[in-house]
Amino acid sequence: EKEKTLAMMKPDGLYGNYDDQIKKMVLDSGFSILREKRIQLDEHTARIFYAEHSSKSFFPSLVKYMTSGPVLVMVLEKENAVADWRNLIGPTDAEKAKVTHPHSIRALCGVSAERNCVHGSDSIQSALREISFFFVKSLASKWCCFG
Ligand code: CMP
Repeated sequence: EKEKTLAMMKPDGLYGNYDDQIKKMVLDSGFSILREKRIQLDEHTARIFYAEHSSKSFFPSLVKYMTSGPVLVMVLEKENAVADWRNLIGPTDAEKAKVTHPHSIRALCGVSAERNCVHGSDSIQSALREISFFFVKSLASKWCCFG
């Protein structure tokens, strides 16, 4: 059974010109890229996207980071896409990823727990929410400020 997940290249991933290399890793790992778009998140939109982290101490800094430049959001599809994409990107903390998962995407282009260069949905439920958030027009227009 094929599954979809939301992948995002964060501002540092794009700024460092890692997009082609990351896309190659995506395709080589058997994912199809069904949709993609490059957008600039504004503060409001970033806060809603990361609402589950709003009480964390790193939240203000996370919002600043995520709005610091454009991001590339993609819908990826394959069997077991959610878990397989999380495996390919590696652990949240990119500094640790360099040691424990040297072939992961975060080891390649991330620098810290915050600046980890890519995002992946953490469950099938999150994937549905996040794909709708960015790609269902009627919903995206509710957040109002990207496109
Ligand atoms: P992501 O997988 O997109 O989901 C939440 C984001 O919050 C995470 O990637 C990081 O960018 C950031 N984050 C998670 N944990 C920390 C942390 N301990 N310190 C700073 N930022 C974090």
